[in-house]
Amino acid sequence: MSKVTIVGAGNVGATCANVLAHEDICNEIVLIDIAGNLAKGKALDIWQQAPVDGYSTRVAGGEDYALTANSDIVIITAGIPRKPGMSRDDLISTNAKIVVSVTQNILKYSKNPIIIVVSNPLDVMTYACWKASGLSDKRVFGMAGVLDTARYRAFLAEEIGCSPKDIQAILMGGHGDTMVPLPRYTTVCGIPVTELVRKDKLEAIIQRTKAGGGELVNLMGTSAWYAPGASAAQMAISILKNENRIYPCCVRLNGQYKLKDIFVGTPVKLNRKGIQEVIKLRLKKDELELLHQSAAAVKEVMEALNKMNLV
Ligand code: NAI
Ligand code: 2OP
Repeated sequence: MSKVTIVGAGNVGATCANVLAHEDICNEIVLIDIAGNLAKGKALDIWQQAPVDGYSTRVAGGEDYALTANSDIVIITAGIPRKPGMSRDDLISTNAKIVVSVTQNILKYSKNPIIIVVSNPLDVMTYACWKASGLSDKRVFGMAGVLDTARYRAFLAEEIGCSPKDIQAILMGGHGDTMVPLPRYTTVCGIPVTELVRKDKLEAIIQRTKAGGGELVNLMGTSAWYAPGASAAQMAISILKNENRIYPCCVRLNGQYKLKDIFVGTPVKLNRKGIQEVIKLRLKKDELELLHQSAAAVKEVMEALNKMNLV
C-alpha cells in the first residue's frame, strides 16, 4: 500500500502526479490545492487517463487535507513565483509561510511521511519545511539536483550526439547560479566526459546548466514544469521501489564536506526510509571551494528566513 500526496496542483504538481500515475506503483495519489476545484479537476482528468494508458493508481484531489490521511510520501510544489515589484525577501516570506502551513496541515493527517520539497527558493524552503515538521532530516529533503543534472545531461547528449541515457553525472550545491556541476564525476557510458567534449564546450554547457531555469523562464514567461515534475516523481519512485538509487538531493549536512546544519545538494542514496546515506565524494580543493561558496549563498538566505521568525 503506497499513498503519495502532492500539494500544489499547478504546473509542476500536476505533471508530477501524471508521471507518477503512469508508473503504476502507488495505490493512491492525492492532489491538494487552495485554488478552488483545480486539484479536484486535474486529479479527475489524470484518473480518466488510466483506462487509456493502462494504470490502476487511483488519483483524487481537492482542498481538504483529510484526503491526504496516511500518506507515505508528500511532495510540496505549492508556492508563488516572484512577481514584479517583489523583493527576494518578499518571495522567501510568502513561500515560507505557504510551505510551513502546508507542512503543518500534512502532519495533522500523516504521522511520519517522507516529504520532498520542490517550492522555491528550494534549499531554504526545504529547511523551512524540515524545521516546521519536527521530522528526522532523513525524511525531509528537496528536489533540485535531479533536474539540474538532467539539464546538464541533456546538453551534453546534444553536444556529443548520443542518447541522454548514456550520460551519468553528479552536481552539488544550491539550486541557483552557484550550483556546482562536477565534470570529474561525469561520464558517457563510463568514458570520462573530458575525452569526448572539448574544455571550452564543456565550460559553456556548465554555464548553460547553471542558467537553465532562467533560460526556460525567458522562453515561456514562467518556470519549467515537465522536467521538474518528472524529476520529483523520479525521487518518489526510487523511494517507493526501495531501490537505493543515488541522486543529488537537497539535504541537511551534519559535518559532511565540512558543512554543518545547512541544506544543499549532495549525492545521496534514496530508499523507503528516505535518505539512506549521504555519499561522501573526495572533492578536490577547487571543487570543495565552489561547494562552500554555494553553501554560503544558501546560508545567507537561511539566515534571512531565521530573522523572519516564521518557524
Ligand atoms: P504554479 O503557479 O503552476 O503552481 C503552484 C500552485 O500552488 C498553484 O496552483 C497554487 O494555487 C498552489 N498553492 C499556492 N499556495 C498554496 C497553499 N497554501 N496550499 C496549497 N496550494 C497552494 O507553479 P509551478 O510552476 O507548479 O511551480 C511551483 C513551485 O515549484 C514554485 O515555487 C517554483 O518556483 C518551484 N519550482 C521548483 C523547481 C525545482 O527545481 N526545485 C523547478 C520548477 C519549479
Ligand atoms: C527551475 O530551475 C525555476 O527552479 C526552477 O526551472
